[in-house]
Amino acid sequence: MENLDWKNLGFGYADTNCNVRCYYRDGKWGELEVSESNEITMHMAATCLHYGQEAFEGLKAYRGKDGKIRVFRIEENARRMQASARGILMPELPVEKFKEAVFKAIKLNQEYVPPFGSGATLYIRPLLIGVGPQIGVKPATEYLFVVFVMPVGPYFKEGFKPTDYVIYREYDRAAPLGTGTIKVGGNYAASLKAGVRAHNEGYSAVLYLDAREKKYLDECGPANFFGIKGNSYVTPKSESILPSITNKSLRQLAQDMGMTVEERRIPVEELADFSEAGACGTAAVISPVRSVYDADKDIRYTYGDEPGEVSQKLYNKLINIQCGCENDPYGWVSIVE
Ligand SMILES: Cc1ncc(COP(=O)(O)O)c(C=O)c1O
Repeated sequence: MENLDWKNLGFGYADTNCNVRCYYRDGKWGELEVSESNEITMHMAATCLHYGQEAFEGLKAYRGKDGKIRVFRIEENARRMQASARGILMPELPVEKFKEAVFKAIKLNQEYVPPFGSGATLYIRPLLIGVGPQIGVKPATEYLFVVFVMPVGPYFKEGFKPTDYVIYREYDRAAPLGTGTIKVGGNYAASLKAGVRAHNEGYSAVLYLDAREKKYLDECGPANFFGIKGNSYVTPKSESILPSITNKSLRQLAQDMGMTVEERRIPVEELADFSEAGACGTAAVISPVRSVYDADKDIRYTYGDEPGEVSQKLYNKLINIQCGCENDPYGWVSIVE
């Protein structure tokens, strides 16, 4: 892949050599299969098409200075996909099978893992869908798990540069007792309208408020939110946000740096008290927030044109662990062999 322009990759779909698949039929998971096709054939009454039986994950493989390929906290993604499966009545894929499929997909496409220092990574997309037919609203009896990969650049094209976010009270991403805590397609369908509007108005993403009261911060479209207040790392506790693996890691790193970690409800007005703010996720890594515009109240909260000191430190620590440049005290990283 020497002719790939790694440094200028965006966050978009690209074909690679192959993908890895596994079917659930007759009450059990089958063997892993390798496919060179980027298409899936399914019944037109498949439940993923009608009733949203669809869950996905997102993780990355990183090329280290030593040339080795690493993945970050893969068991967490495997378990979160199990939680998503339970949430919409799909069969859970065993953690070991998830890992085996992801490792296989990386190995068979290893020339697409971007070089160390290019700023690009291999994005891994595991997908679980109901493929059995059903016309009443019922779970399918057949499922397909697929893992495909592609090299990507930063999710927000600015990379580690502060960008602007917006609050609109007229949209919700997920209901408090709905599916916000799991990674299912319906949440993303519900976020498209607000997300596209935000982009058209010049913002990177929407910062959602809690759907029940519209009083507290929830999360940023495709990423969790955090603010820095004095020596505290503050992040929303909510019944409708995805438990981000990046955020969980940053909470640990912040604590290791001697900070206090506060996971609690954050009233919107508290945005005025943060010295720094960020969006965090696998794709976004840390995307510093330059400003949050509350569109309904016409208030702009600003955090500066350059990344803050704490965000910079957390970012460096995280990416250094991910690429094997720094000690990994919690065993977060696995080497793909
Ligand atoms: C809605 C939402 N929140 C947060 C995240 C960040 O989660 P993670 O850090 O596990 O990638 C993602 C991405 O997976 C997401 O889609």
